[in-house]
Parts: sequence; C-alpha cells; structure tokens
Amino acid sequence: MPNVTVSNHPLIRHKLTLLRDRTTGTAHFRQIAREISLLMAYEVTRDLPLEPIDVETPLEMARAERLAGKKLCLVSILRAGNGILEGMLDLIPSARVGHIGLYRDPATLLPVEYYLKLPRDIADRRVILVDPMLATGNSAVAATTRLKQAGATALKYVCLLAAPEGIATFTQAHPDVPVFAAAIDRELDSHGYIRPGLGDAGDRIYGTR
Ligand code: URA
Repeated sequence: MPNVTVSNHPLIRHKLTLLRDRTTGTAHFRQIAREISLLMAYEVTRDLPLEPIDVETPLEMARAERLAGKKLCLVSILRAGNGILEGMLDLIPSARVGHIGLYRDPATLLPVEYYLKLPRDIADRRVILVDPMLATGNSAVAATTRLKQAGATALKYVCLLAAPEGIATFTQAHPDVPVFAAAIDRELDSHGYIRPGLGDAGDRIYGTR
C-alpha cells in the first residue's frame, strides 16, 4: 500500500499480541501500549534530518551529528491517543503536544470536534498525529484536516491497528500524509470495530468497561 508502513519489528509484533489478548488487564495494557508506542516513535522518526556538529569528547574533537530542521509536535486524538502519547514522549521528551477531541456520532459514525489545543507554532513543526485505532478513518481524516487548517504541512499519522477500510479512506483524503501502523487487521465490522482487533482501545487503556 502506498504511503503505509507496517512495522515488522519482533518486539512490536510480540507486544501487539499481548494487547490483543482479552485477559491482559488495564495496568498491563497501559504499560505495553506505552512500550509499543516508544518503538513506533523510533520507526516514525527514522527519516529525521541530521546536521554535522563538532563535539569535544574526553579524548579529542569528533565530527558528530545532531537533529536538524523543524522540531516535533505530537498531537493526540482524545482520549485513546493519550494511551500512546506517553510512550512516544519517553523517546522524544522535548516534543510539543497538542490535543484534539473528537467523538463519533453513534448514528452517522462521523466525527464531531469538541476540543482543540495546539502549539502556536505548529506550522513550523513536524507533526505526528497519534491514535491507536485507524478504524473508519473518519476521525483521522477530520483531525488531519483540522491540523492542516491550523497550518501544519509536515504530517505523519501513527496508529497501532489499522483496518483496510480506514487506510483507504485516510490515504484517499490525505495522500500526502504517511501512515505508520503496528499491524493491518482483516476488516471493520458493522459497529465500526476493527477485527480481530483488540477491542475498544480507550476502554482497555483506562479500564472504563
Ligand atoms: N476504536 C477502538 O477503540 N477499537 C476499534 O476496534 C475501533 C475503533
């Protein structure tokens, strides 16, 4: 699939199995989600540009490298996005963080925005939008549209599980935004759940069911 990267890292695949397991309890689920998100952060930042810099080691001067160009901003789609935000911040602690609140209208399955807080300089940053489940794709499309309206130009989208339907919807609406997923599952069911999936990510992260 063009513009979609699925991780084949063994640690990500192993941890994803633990997330899928219905017997994994809330605290363990949250911890694993954090670990897998750190690994996804590693994958999504693989192409960050570097610039040369001289550094003095205890022995001599060395030609080294440091990150260059635009700084990072993570944007979480509430509330489940927060479950993978922490793990990504473990790896990229200086990233700015934005939040976008969208709920899914149960009748239309379409997203309705109820909250938005973004860094003022979002247009000058590389933006990584995070949400564990790319299901219908409607929330991801709406959030990305909103971020573009706010000035974001360099965007990537990171999820844990994606449905083929969600990928199709998202890549059609935003072909310029690369998608990173830990896995692509079989299908979306009639209730908008990813199958086989891992259930409701928000409920599993926060123990609300
Ligand atoms: N959101 C979830 O939390 N789980 C799904 O399977 C689909 C959307």
